[in-house]
Amino acid sequence: MDKKYEMKYASQIVRGNFHSDPQTGSIVPAIYQTATYVLDSVGNDKGFDYTRSSNPTRQRLEEHLSLIEGSNYGVSFSSGMAACDSVFRMLKAGDHVICSKDLYGGVTRLLDQSYTSFGVEVDYIDVSSASDLDHVLKSNTKMIWVETPSNPLLEVIDLNLISSFAKSNNLISVVDSTFATPYLLKPIEYQIDMVVQSTSKYISGHNQLIGGAVLTNSDELYKRLKFFQKSIGAVQSPFDCYLTLLGVKTLELRMERHCINAMKVAQYLAENKKVKRVIYPGLPSHEQHSIAKEQMKNFGGMLSFELETSYEKTKEFINKLKFCMLAESLGGTETMITHPASMTHLDVPKETRLSRGLTDTLCRLSVGIEDVEDIITDLDRALVSI
Ligand SMILES: Cc1ncc(COP(=O)(O)O)c(C=O)c1O
Repeated sequence: MDKKYEMKYASQIVRGNFHSDPQTGSIVPAIYQTATYVLDSVGNDKGFDYTRSSNPTRQRLEEHLSLIEGSNYGVSFSSGMAACDSVFRMLKAGDHVICSKDLYGGVTRLLDQSYTSFGVEVDYIDVSSASDLDHVLKSNTKMIWVETPSNPLLEVIDLNLISSFAKSNNLISVVDSTFATPYLLKPIEYQIDMVVQSTSKYISGHNQLIGGAVLTNSDELYKRLKFFQKSIGAVQSPFDCYLTLLGVKTLELRMERHCINAMKVAQYLAENKKVKRVIYPGLPSHEQHSIAKEQMKNFGGMLSFELETSYEKTKEFINKLKFCMLAESLGGTETMITHPASMTHLDVPKETRLSRGLTDTLCRLSVGIEDVEDIITDLDRALVSI
């Protein structure tokens, strides 16, 4: 840190640790695009020897992300999935992990198709009640992993419950907080052990890169994460770290606008007769609305909705959209729509998909920061035409 200065949260988001470049004073972070570092003498490496282990641009990003998440440590990875993988590597054969039931499909794929073959046991359950948690607990349970709000059903998880369950049973608690971002929720304040962010989404904010991070207060977990980062090498390039550092500066402004726009779109959809149901934590109709109100600063930019029609007509509706873009990702400045049944969950057997609430007519909307009238006009035009 250049100067000791107490900053408000919004300033921390913009400034991070108040650095200017130590060599030049450059206000923009320097990109240390190097693989290695010259040592002054044997054993004297100024903290950097090889970029897979550490890099000044990446270190600056890690400090920035841990500052805004309120954690002691941050470890950056080449993708959100690499971040998830480093967390699951804390498990060993014979260990059991409890997961909330609605999770990003990449996480269930990694667990079901890779970790289970190494002997890790997984249960996906409704984590909303203490008795359900107690019921699934085993003598080999080591970790509880939840996503809040979840992808794509926007389930909001009570972090007080998860944290006390984890503490009383000596489990590692993990929250994937990609949808909320630290601006809306800081799981560390609930004594959650590790927070996962796919920085590809809101943190970088402009669909310009793939990245991930894990944030923690624990010295022990941090050491293990650094070990995995260095040993596996799923590190973010200095250039992508730099782009993330630029993107994150506007997190507060973007999230405020995402939230305002999403609420307006949710209210519009809730009134439309062609829409069967809208899932948005900010609507009183949302099952965990009161938890979201208590736990989050605002309700986020993501919503899902089901149409009162068929699979084919839902695809027709999406194809008619001109402003909302059909794309897999989320959390960027532009509004993007996804149809889980034909896109993210195409490979999931229909019965399993339906049993998880992912119906044929479910659409997920990542509401952007454009003029909300353009978003609503586009949705309205496409809905009228089906
Ligand atoms: C909630 C959540 N976690 C993790 C990931 C994985 O992140 P990445 O795509 O950066 O690997 C995603 C990706 O969509 C996600 O939505």
